Amino acid sequence: MFENVQPAPPDPILGLTEAFKADTNPDKINLGVGVYKDANGTTPVLESVKAAEKTLLETEKTKAYLPIDGSPAYSDAIKALLFPASSPVVAEGRAVTLHAPSGTGALRVAGEYLASNHPESRIWMSTPTWPNHAPIFTAAGVAQEAYPYYDAQGQKLDIDAMLAALDGVKAGDVVLLHGCCHNPSGVDPTPEQWVAIADKLAEKKAVALLDFAYQGFGSGIDEDSVGLHTLAEKLPELIVCTSYSKNFSLYNERIGALTFVAPSADAAKAVLSQVKTVIRRMYSNPPAHGAGIVTTILNDASLRARWEVELAAMRERIQSMRSKLATGLDQRSVQLSATGNGFLTTQRGMFSFSGLNKDHVQKLRAEYAIYIVGSGRINVAGITDNNVDRLCDAIAAVTKN
Ligand code: LMR
Repeated sequence: MFENVQPAPPDPILGLTEAFKADTNPDKINLGVGVYKDANGTTPVLESVKAAEKTLLETEKTKAYLPIDGSPAYSDAIKALLFPASSPVVAEGRAVTLHAPSGTGALRVAGEYLASNHPESRIWMSTPTWPNHAPIFTAAGVAQEAYPYYDAQGQKLDIDAMLAALDGVKAGDVVLLHGCCHNPSGVDPTPEQWVAIADKLAEKKAVALLDFAYQGFGSGIDEDSVGLHTLAEKLPELIVCTSYSKNFSLYNERIGALTFVAPSADAAKAVLSQVKTVIRRMYSNPPAHGAGIVTTILNDASLRARWEVELAAMRERIQSMRSKLATGLDQRSVQLSATGNGFLTTQRGMFSFSGLNKDHVQKLRAEYAIYIVGSGRINVAGITDNNVDRLCDAIAAVTKN
């Protein structure tokens, strides 16, 4: 039966990494997949992570299975990272957190839970969104709708169009929002816009599903939680999918979490029991190592302080590369928008939605061995002092022709 199988197209993001690795150009630049790189172009293990791993190695007593929903210590640490201690959501026992194999795994488990327990619910996604969102929910069997999000002319959130489209949401539909550092646009709602979005979802009796993969990459751990906290204050039900790939630089440990907020502690427990049945039939129970690292760091004051410094350094380096990219383009008289290049510095998180079109992206790859996602999304964290001039020269060349 295998002889007639046709090859699948490469993944729009991870496929770029494969092509990049095969490229023999010594000056190649990978600005595709969202992986942080330091000033030397490498993705080092954080010092806080190394220290936590040392502790784990010395204290680990067993490799026995974790519970289906992961370790309780991890769940508590993640809840504390998401919600302030004073939050009624936590005090009233209305939040349950499960360990999931990173953000993608959390999204897929959420999708399977929705398809099994709420088959009438549709999921609404922003245009544009992370290219893996639709395949994940399609595979889980959840019907999908789109809402406008990014105004490409003004490089801003089109809040009016977004709220107007969300008028079409039915009670029990799920609206997927990016917690911060919207992927791919880098454009987030303001605190006031979060209030308007939360009010709209409350009016429509919708459930918010927050994809929260970049906490700490925008402005800071708490500052980046404004959307989550606004939604938790105004909505009785929430789903939060988190990833610790980026902010702990734990990409290959596949560590994330899935949090449900329900109207009551009893409802939260019932949801938890249903999600456990989903996990049992998907992968039984989660891998332990990443959760051990994150729990150790979050529960130790000195390790946590060290991690926060490392996270801030990542955030600040990205911000400085945004400025260098914008300045480098200005110096070459390249304008990526009608209003110049300033928008590159106000977008948040790892990505810049550059405005480069498919033709530019194609030429950058074919002629300069510079790899960026077809939508024009640039991973700013892949820019360094050593490659920024070459990048700006190449962008100048492809956009002037
Ligand atoms: C990205 O958008 O580049 C990251 O979230 C990595 C991925 O899995 O696509």
